[in-house]
Amino acid sequence: MQVQDKVGVVTGAASGIGRATALELVKQGVKGIALVDLSESAVCEFARQINEDAGRELALAFTGDVTDLQFRAQVFDETSHHHGIVQIMVPAAGIFRDRLAVKIERDTGEANIYPADVFRQVLEVNLIHPVYWAMETIARIAVDRNRQGLKKWHPNEKVQGTIIFIGSVSSQGNRGQVSYASTKAGLEGAASTLMKEAMFHGVRTGVIHPGFVDTPLLQGMPDGYVEQHILPDTQLGRLIRPEEIADAICFMIRNSAVSGQLWADAGWHPAAA
Ligand SMILES: NC(=O)c1ccc[n+]([C@@H]2O[C@H](COP(=O)([O-])OP(=O)(O)OC[C@H]3O[C@@H](n4cnc5c(N)ncnc54)[C@H](O)[C@@H]3O)[C@@H](O)[C@H]2O)c1
Repeated sequence: MQVQDKVGVVTGAASGIGRATALELVKQGVKGIALVDLSESAVCEFARQINEDAGRELALAFTGDVTDLQFRAQVFDETSHHHGIVQIMVPAAGIFRDRLAVKIERDTGEANIYPADVFRQVLEVNLIHPVYWAMETIARIAVDRNRQGLKKWHPNEKVQGTIIFIGSVSSQGNRGQVSYASTKAGLEGAASTLMKEAMFHGVRTGVIHPGFVDTPLLQGMPDGYVEQHILPDTQLGRLIRPEEIADAICFMIRNSAVSGQLWADAGWHPAAA
């Protein structure tokens, strides 16, 4: 599906992979783009820069929590109103809350299990949000087609929409990441199910699994973690740049023959822990 003249939504757009993806989509000629993030100052300034360069109101900034249903509806309503129906969805907002799944307390010998409320928080942002923002995209395309009297999508038509989820190499399991890894693995099942259903409306889905990308998220890891635990197991010997992931995401959007999952991991092959 060509990026040019389409309308996109990127969540987590104020930073890292989301920001780089939004910039790449702009470079490739989107008609309009919604930039969604918790961070008001960063997302507004980002939109201002894009619009100044474009000489028009190409980017719309939305500040809010992606887990808020009303906020989601507002983003889609206002974006469609300004630019037209959303056809590209990249739900990139994500968090991690890492710790061992089960720890034995030194003093008491008791087991300390990963807190369920923290697990649910990671689940809300990393799995439920991307799936629901994807379903909102599909729903709006489906309603629009229905209004036009269009039935089942036909391969002779152009692809109507593309959703790229941001997985992670951690979906294969990573020490200390029981909640994060579960959510990223969950995206695989959601994406393949949605693709089976949403092709009826001409919408495809895919998952990119980045390795370790040099973003503020990764900078939140403990000191020395990257040097000790990531780089020695990475064939490329360096972190991935957000722009490299953005480029791969746009490739997945543009090339409709690409389905399923793309691993962009810089050759990360961890030894057994
Ligand atoms: N950095 C990596 O190494 C790496 C690797 C694999 C996958 N990923 C995934 O890529 C995505 C982007 O990560 P990143 O490294 O660019 O992170 P980042 O921290 O640089 O950016 C994430 C953005 O999401 C926003 N955000 C977080 N929670 C939100 C919420 N509830 N509502 C609205 N906005 C919210 C933050 O404000 C931030 O701007 C995430 O899904 C992450 O899991 C990152």
